[in-house]
Amino acid sequence: MNGPLEGRHVVLGVSGSIASYKAAEIASRLVQEGAVVDVVMTASATQFIAPATFRALTQREPYTDMFGSYGAGEAHVELARRAEALLAAPASATTIARLAHGIADDFLALTALATTAPVLVAPAMDAQMWEHAATQANIETLRARNVEVIGPANGRLASGRMGAGRLVEPALVVDALKARLGREHGDLSGRHVVITAGGTREAIDPVRYVSNHSSGKQGYGLAEAARDRGAQVTLISTASLPDPGGVHVVRVDSALQMLEAVQAAMRSAQVLIMAAAVADYRPAEAAEQKIKRAEMGGELSIPLVENPDISKEVSGEFVKVVFAAETQNLVENATVKLANKRAALIVANDVSASDAGFGVDTNRVVILDAQGGREDLPLMTKYEVSNRILDRVAALLK
Ligand code: PMT
Repeated sequence: MNGPLEGRHVVLGVSGSIASYKAAEIASRLVQEGAVVDVVMTASATQFIAPATFRALTQREPYTDMFGSYGAGEAHVELARRAEALLAAPASATTIARLAHGIADDFLALTALATTAPVLVAPAMDAQMWEHAATQANIETLRARNVEVIGPANGRLASGRMGAGRLVEPALVVDALKARLGREHGDLSGRHVVITAGGTREAIDPVRYVSNHSSGKQGYGLAEAARDRGAQVTLISTASLPDPGGVHVVRVDSALQMLEAVQAAMRSAQVLIMAAAVADYRPAEAAEQKIKRAEMGGELSIPLVENPDISKEVSGEFVKVVFAAETQNLVENATVKLANKRAALIVANDVSASDAGFGVDTNRVVILDAQGGREDLPLMTKYEVSNRILDRVAALLK
C-alpha cells in the first residue's frame, strides 16, 4: 500500500537559520516516503547550506534565484500551481513576515503568494525574536489564513539560551505535513478516533507490576494511519514508543486509568479501537512499600481481582473495533468475543507466530464483522494492517 506522501508534490521552502541543515533531513524523509520534492531556498539559506545538498537529496534543481531561468514561463507560478503543499521549514522570522504581509521579494515568498495549496511553517529563531510582538502578530495573521504553524519547540537555542524557538524535529515536521494532507484529502477527515495501545501495568508494589508482551506498535500504527487519513486521533497508551506527530497522546499505566481516559476521550469521538492488551486481572491491593523477599518466608501469593472490560464500559453511538489476541482456535474464540463485546469488528490476532502479534513490526490478522463476514489478511506491516482496518471503519461511518 502507498504511504500518505507517495507521489505528492511538496515544495520545501528553506530559510536562513542555524537550523537550515535540518531541512536536509526533512527533504530526505519526504523523498524516502515517495514525495516529489522541489526545494526553494532564500538567499540567507544558501549561506547556511549548499543547494548541492538538496540537488543530491531530491534529484531536482533547487530554486534559489527569483530572476534565475528555470525553463520557460513564470517558474514560481508553475511551481505554485503544481504544489500540493508548501512547507517552510525552517521558517525564519523574516520569511514569516514576508508570508504574513505578502511581500514577494524572493522565490519562496513569491511561490507562497501564488499557491492555493496548504501552507505549513515550522519557525526557527531565537526566543526573543519568536516572542517579539511583530513575530507573534505575523503568526496570528498566518493562522487566521489557515496556515499551519508547527512548533517551535522549547530547548537550547543557538544563542546558548533556553527557550521557545527550536525547529521541531524533522520526523515530527513530516508528521505534521501528513496530518494536514490527511485533513485536506482523507476519508476520516472531521472524525475523532480513539485508539488504545500497549499492555496495561497493574501494580504489585511501587517497583513491580503484572503486564504482558504488548509493545504498542499495532496501536501506534493505527494512530498514524488514522492521522494520515485526516482523523483527529487520541492515542491512549502505556507504551514507551515516541509520540507520533499530529496525534494527541494520553499516557496511562493501569486498566483503571485506561478506562478513565477512554471514557473521557469518547465524549467527542465516533470511533473506538481497542488495540491495547488490557490485563483482565489486577492485584487486589498494591503494597505501599516494596515487598521484601526476606519477609515472605519463601512464598508469595498475590490475590487478583477482575478489571472492568473497557470495551464494554463506553456507551453511546460509535464504531467499536476490538482485537482478539489468541494462541489457539483463533477464529472461534474471536467470534465469541465479537458477540460478547458487541463490536462492529474484531481483529483476530494469532500471537503465537514469530512474525505477528507482540513486539514485531508485522502482523497477520483475520477481520470478522458483526454480520458474519470474514477477511483473512496476509502478513503485512502493522501500518498496512491498520489501513485495512480503517478501510472497514470508514465504510461503517458512511
Ligand atoms: O502491541 P504490539 O506489540 O504491537 O502487539 C499487538 C497486540 C497483539 C497487542 C494487538 O494486536 C492485540 O491483539 N491487542 C489485543 C490484545 C488483547 O488484550 O486481547 P484480548 O483478547 O485479551 O481482549 C479482547 C479485546 O478486549 C481487546 O480489544 C482488548 O483491548 C479489550 N479488553 C480486554 C480486557 C479488558 N479488561 N478490557 C478490554 O477492553
